[in-house]
Parts: sequence; structure tokens; C-alpha cells
Amino acid sequence: MALNHEFTQALRAQLDQLRADSVYKQLLYLDSPQDARVRIEGHGEVIILSSNNYLGLTNEPSVVEAGIEALRRFGAGTGSVRFICGTFTIHRELEAALAEFVGCPSSLSYVSAWNANEGLTGTIVEEGDFVVSDALNHASIIDSIRLAKTATRCTTGVYRHSDMDDLRAKLEANKGARRKLIWTDGVFSMEGSIARLPDILQIARDHGAIVIVDDSHATGVLGAEGRGTAEHCGVLGEVDIITSTLGKALGGAAGGFVAGSAELTDYLTQRSRPQLFSNALPPTVAASALEAVRFTKSNPERVSTLRANASYFREQIVEAGFKPLPGETPIVPIIVGATSAAIRMSAMLLAEGVFVTGFGFPVVPQGEARVRCQISAAHTKDDLDAAVRAFKTVGRKLNLV
Ligand SMILES: Cc1ncc(COP(=O)(O)O)c(C=O)c1O
Repeated sequence: MALNHEFTQALRAQLDQLRADSVYKQLLYLDSPQDARVRIEGHGEVIILSSNNYLGLTNEPSVVEAGIEALRRFGAGTGSVRFICGTFTIHRELEAALAEFVGCPSSLSYVSAWNANEGLTGTIVEEGDFVVSDALNHASIIDSIRLAKTATRCTTGVYRHSDMDDLRAKLEANKGARRKLIWTDGVFSMEGSIARLPDILQIARDHGAIVIVDDSHATGVLGAEGRGTAEHCGVLGEVDIITSTLGKALGGAAGGFVAGSAELTDYLTQRSRPQLFSNALPPTVAASALEAVRFTKSNPERVSTLRANASYFREQIVEAGFKPLPGETPIVPIIVGATSAAIRMSAMLLAEGVFVTGFGFPVVPQGEARVRCQISAAHTKDDLDAAVRAFKTVGRKLNLV
């Protein structure tokens, strides 16, 4: 049967518009595992500065082996949702390990952090509740709140990024709400900034609110042992709900989770729609993530290497004349202004052997387009020095340094 011609034409026109606006995304194909350097079809081997492979575990032999072993032991997957056809013991082991790692009594896995966030918000709010969200929260949080609002008619608000006075004011204005929830990223992915968690927790106590932190860019990254934003801020065990991904530091495959009280994860098992109507994490992915948690716990030096690499790169890039946003995470954004400048810089860096993505409006505010560098424990000093040399070459050509 012929495809709907009119629909296809309309999509083509929209794609043409994206190209005309210089925001069309071209996928690059990797022909090697994710690591400090990757082989890209048509470009050869390049240093990668745009992966969330913070601890370098995507290709860690024990993480890969654990996945292979689980594939042999459990087969490809559950074949249905967990409550209908049973769940694997590897899920229970993973969930216990994740909960312990992030300092919560219990956790529940999902096929992605996106799915976890979406499966969480709408399940725990009701009409009469108030959800307040940081202005720079990740798209998955924003969409989870939109979905919850549509489904439950709860009320919502947005506070200016990390502005505690604004957060207080928004809660004060909604003090009559039945239940109040504060939703924040632990580490904000486009800025590399860290949530003011101790202040948020205090404000939550003052207003009887629940705190939810998405620690996707902090799990395995922040804190001496990589336990996340709460460890970094000295408040481990004090956050009501933590969500995070298994698709970044913890092996980089896929998957996410919600951690909190045993009652919370039990309630989500009963009511969260992705749990009830979608298959569980494939066992091979669960096993790789479990090994990633164990590896991180027994090799805390990976976390310190990540930290040392990030501060070395920051120093060198500043010395080269660039002005990255200040911060202490492995996310080092270099603001270049116009979206076209960020895209051009990224293409020129690739030609110089560095794969790093440029982000423009609407992902970041207008005029604040950036090349976002992400550092990994897998990078050697040579990798980082070579990357800085490439930045200098491109920066001079673009009159940035
Ligand atoms: C803060 C945050 N939350 C959630 C996600 C989604 O993670 P996943 O790939 O597991 O869906 C991301 C991924 O970019 C993220 O940065």
C-alpha cells in the first residue's frame, strides 16, 4: 500500500526547515565501543568529549562479561511485564544494589530514566497537589510533570534556576496544596551546575514538601564514592526520592530507576503505568549495570580519576583562552553565542579529531549556544592534551582565543 503522500510531504517540509534553521541533527555512526577514543564511520579514530561514559565503564571487561553471562543464563528478556510473567532475580539484585548505592531503602528499575521519571510523577500526584520544578530541569522531568498535570489536574510551577527565594515564594503561594513536591536535577546537564540540595531540603522541611532529585549526571560522578549529589552535599539518606539512569556512568547501556522508601517502590510496582504495561529491563542490561555498581564500589579511584581529569581539562582549556562556565562537574560547557557558531565549531573540531557536540536554541537559551565537553575517567592526559590542542587550533580560526 502506498504511503500517505501528503503526510510525507509535510514531514519533508519540516525537515527542510530544520536544515534551513541549522538545527538539523546528523547522526554519526560509531564502529567501535564507546571509550576515550572512538572510531567514527568516515572520520576514523577521534577523541570523544560528548559521552556520558563518565567512569569509562561502557567497555569495561567485567561489565561486558556480566551482560554476556546474564544473556546466557536468563535469555533475551521477560517476554511480558513483570507482574504478569514474573521478574528475574537479577532485577531484585540490581534494585537492592542501586538503593544501597544512592542511600535509599529501596529502588525500582525502569527501561530508561526517562521512563522512570514519567512513571513516577503521574503516579504519586493527585488533583490538589502542587509540583514545583527548576527552570533548567531535564526534558524528561518537564514532560513527566506535563503528563501528570494532564492526567490528574494537579497544579504546577517553575522556579528560576537554583533561585531559593523563588522556590520559597512558589511554595508559599501554594501552601494550601494537599501535597507539595519539589523536582530538581542533581547536576544540570547543559550547565554542569549542582543543585543547592541542603537548601532545597531545608525549604522542603519548612513547607512540608517532598524532594525528588534526578541524579542522572551525578550517580557515579559526585561524592567521594560516586553516590551522587546527596553524598557530595553531605546529605546522603535525606532525599525523599532519587531517580537516575543506568545509561551514563553506570555502564552506559540503558535503564533507569526510582529510589526511595519501600512503600514508594511497592506503590510504583502496583500503579506506575510503565511497570504495568511495559517489559522490564533486559537481563543482560540489568547484569551489566549491577556489575557497574559493584565495580564503582570496589574501585573508588575511578571516581577520583574522573574528578582529576575534569579539573585538569578545565585548567588547560582556561589557560588556552576559553571561558567555560565555572563548575566542579565533568560537564564543561564553552559558550560561543550563536547556534550556528556552536555547530560550526563542533564540525571543525571533528575535522581536528575531537568529537564534541554543539548545542543551540531551543535546548539552551537564545544567544548562549555552546560546545559541551564531557570528561571521562577513561581519558588519559594525552587525550586531554590533544583535545585542548584541537580547541586552540579551532578557537584561533574562529577568533575565539
Ligand atoms: C537529567 C536527565 N534525566 C534523564 C535522562 C534520560 O536518561 P535515559 O537515557 O536513561 O532515559 C537524561 C539523559 O540525558 C538526563 O540528562
